[in-house]
Formats: sequence, structure tokens, C-alpha cells
Amino acid sequence: MSVKTTQEPIEDPVQKMNRMYRWTRHVYDGSRRYYLLGRDRLLDAIAERPGEHVLEIGCGTARNLRILGRRAPQHTLYGIDASLSMLATARAKLGQRAASDKITLGHGLAQDFKPTAHLGVDRDFDVIFFSYVLSMIPCWPEALEAALAHLAPDGQLYIVDFWDQAGLPSWIAVALQRWLALFDVYPRPALVDTLQRFDEIDGLSAALMPIAHRYAYLATIQASGSVPAEAFEGLKGEERRIKTV
Ligand SMILES: C[S@@+](CC[C@H](N)C(=O)[O-])C[C@H]1O[C@@H](n2cnc3c(N)ncnc32)[C@H](O)[C@@H]1O
Repeated sequence: MSVKTTQEPIEDPVQKMNRMYRWTRHVYDGSRRYYLLGRDRLLDAIAERPGEHVLEIGCGTARNLRILGRRAPQHTLYGIDASLSMLATARAKLGQRAASDKITLGHGLAQDFKPTAHLGVDRDFDVIFFSYVLSMIPCWPEALEAALAHLAPDGQLYIVDFWDQAGLPSWIAVALQRWLALFDVYPRPALVDTLQRFDEIDGLSAALMPIAHRYAYLATIQASGSVPAEAFEGLKGEERRIKTV
């Protein structure tokens, strides 16, 4: 079920994220642990992999990267975020744990992602993940396209985010989605459809795992070789659809 909420506002994403997290970044890690479900399952999957270059897009306070830094020291970790406030908190927390040398952070927008400009590295990534980020990005097809463009051959993309709560009583879905809209967070049924269609493309496989009765989902996209052109064409189609709505 998709619940109609208020119209999604479009404004400068850096300003919007700086404003949104200016104060809440101080209580972010403690308060979000109860409702950003599925993040630890995602980190378990990444931690099991052999040493790789792993990028989180929209890393926030670097909560996920700090956990990976402890649990999976074999990986080289990177994170970008739109919000300078969140990055300041991330850097402070990394400094406290003397882990900053293992994790490279950069300021940038998911939809414009360029490794050289944002992270000072000229490389693609074996694993890229979005954790509760694409529900905040109105131009999500561009963000996904930028990530897939920098996925190394045979790479893996993970997404954990709000789904449609279809397995929960409808009043819970309505209340949750209204509440999320106050924070400019919008579950995206079209994104889920796009991820499921990836599974029909030769050279990609896609698996979607529901979390807590479709409160959220964990998607795993696996490339065999380079990401096929068909995946990018599908995303271009979604971009055009969003612009004409
Ligand atoms: C809900 S928080 C999630 C943080 C982290 N991924 C986690 O799981 O704790 C969303 C993060 O995405 C960032 N963000 C939102 N829009 C973005 C964009 N267009 N590009 C990069 N980061 C963005 C926000 O600044 C914020 O830090």
C-alpha cells in the first residue's frame, strides 16, 4: 500500500541537510537505533566479505562505517554526505576512536558523486551502500545511477530503507508516512519496482528482503562483470518520469 502524503518539496539539498541535522546530529545515533531497522543485517553481510573498498553514500554520523571499521578491519572504508554538520559529528566520533585513518570521509551529493572530487581517490568500489538515504533524495534515479557508474566489476550494491508497511495495519502505515514526511523522508515504491526489475537484466541479480512486515527492506544488487547499459537506461526512464510528474 502506498499512502499519499504531502507534496515532496524540492530545495537546495546541501542547505536542507545542514538545517535538518544542525541540532539532531547530537542525538542522532541514540535516537535512530530504534527505528532505522535492518542496518545491522546489512553490516553483517558486508563484514563477511573479504578485504574490499567499501563506500557508504549518505554516511551521516558514520555510525555504520565505525561499526564496519571495528568488525571488518580488512576493508578500506569511504563515506560521503551532503550535510557538513553530520560530517563534523562523524569526524569528531572517528577522532575519538582513533579510527579516522581507516575511513575517508568527503562532502558531496549522491546524485553528483565523483570519487576524485569528493574523496580524493580515482577508483571504483567493490561494495556501495545506501542506508536510509534514498528515501530523502527526490532525484533518487540520479543517485542510483551515480553509484552504479562507480561500482567495480562484480561489485555489490546494498540498499536498506523504508518500504510501504503493507504487512502492518494501515493506520500504522498512514501515521508513519505522515510522520516521515515531516522530516522529508518518503518511501519510494517506484525505487523498489526499479530494483526488482534489475533482476530481469542479464548481468545483474537483485534480491529484496522485507524487514518487519515491509516496514523496511534490504536490497542486494549483484553485478556479474560491469553494470549493464540496460540498468542505466531504466534509470534514465525513471528520471524522465519524475521530471514530468
Ligand atoms: C537518515 S540519515 C542516515 C545516515 C546513515 N546512513 C545511517 O544509516 O545512520 C540520511 C543521511 O543522508 C544524507 N543525505 C541526504 N540527502 C543526500 C544527498 N543528496 N547526498 C548525500 N547525502 C545525503 C543526510 O545528510 C543524512 O546524513
